[in-house]
Amino acid sequence: MSWTAVLWCLLAFWVTGGHQLTAENKTTIVELHNRFRSLVVPSAANMRRMHWNESLAAIAVAYSTKCVWDHNPELVDIGENLFITNGRLNVSNAVTDWYEEHLDYTYKNNHCQEDKMCGHYTQVVWADSYAVGCASHLCAKMTGLQFENANLFICNYYPPGNFKGKLPYTSGEPCYLCPAGMSCKDKLCATAEKLISTSQPTSSPRSTTQSPATENKSTPSSSKETMPWTTSLPRLNYTGGACAVTEGSLTLLSSVLLLLLTM
Ligand SMILES: *[C@@H]1O[C@H](CO)[C@@H](O)[C@H](O)[C@H]1NC(C)=O
Ligand SMILES: *[C@@H]1O[C@H](CO)[C@@H](O)[C@H](O)[C@H]1NC(C)=O
Ligand SMILES: *[C@@H]1O[C@H](CO)[C@@H](O)[C@H](O)[C@H]1NC(C)=O
Ligand SMILES: *[C@@H]1O[C@H](CO)[C@@H](O)[C@H](O)[C@H]1NC(C)=O
Ligand SMILES: *[C@@H]1O[C@H](CO)[C@@H](O)[C@H](O)[C@H]1NC(C)=O
Repeated sequence: MSWTAVLWCLLAFWVTGGHQLTAENKTTIVELHNRFRSLVVPSAANMRRMHWNESLAAIAVAYSTKCVWDHNPELVDIGENLFITNGRLNVSNAVTDWYEEHLDYTYKNNHCQEDKMCGHYTQVVWADSYAVGCASHLCAKMTGLQFENANLFICNYYPPGNFKGKLPYTSGEPCYLCPAGMSCKDKLCATAEKLISTSQPTSSPRSTTQSPATENKSTPSSSKETMPWTTSLPRLNYTGGACAVTEGSLTLLSSVLLLLLTM
């Protein structure tokens, strides 16, 4: 790695704190979710358009810094997808990875192929989940996984999906079953809100009557006890990347550079 590359990484690290997603990343995440939601087969009659939610993102930020390869035990009425790579994180690839699970999923009998995971996909296309907030964190070590210097990526969803025995959406003519007052945009039920909003909306989301108790979450048909259902399988695929340096070494470099700058 050249010194200019190191400096660029350092700059990026300073600006982002090593884990914060940029506004562009957030737009990418929301747009990709919405693209996949409009692509479902069979088509969905009640699929809502997804929006970014900073409160959900804040929960993901806080939990991502703990570097645990398991679901956030404190989530109540919030869904969660996890992804990890020991290469460079690309949010498009992570969300696409979750969507790719549709290849193992059959809508008509709500069935996931044996030994496969479909829960990330069904959360991504869960019709009612209209809010998403995500975070990434560079983890020097992980709890629950033999990964070092890995990029953990977490998305939280509201309302949560994956209720056992429930289909992710109702099939039918796109937007045929949109909640009252919503318009149809790219086969999705849309409100006038912007996809990325920094201000808090005046109305709070409606409360869900169902609670996503663990016993009501679908589990893989196989005994993949170590991997939570809605957790992406780890990628042992090291893609490298210009900024694939440990947070520790970056901090060290930062101090050295700061020292040089202040001398
Ligand atoms: C992320 O991956 C997509 C393809 O999956 C690519 O088009 C895009 O340029 C990548 N983004 C970055 C920042 O590397
Ligand atoms: C986030 O977006 C920036 C550009 O704003 C890009 O350089 C970076 O690779 C993206 N990060 C991820 C994790 O996709
Ligand atoms: C985000 O969702 C929470 C509930 O999870 C809600 O109270 C808050 O108003 C939402 N914020 C935005 C910006 O949508
Ligand atoms: C779990 O599902 C059963 C039926 O499948 C239902 O009777 C029960 O109320 C559900 N529990 C929760 C917490 O949703
Ligand atoms: C790493 O994974 C990406 C997709 O996630 C794939 O395109 C690439 O071929 C893989 N590389 C190796 C060396 O396995």
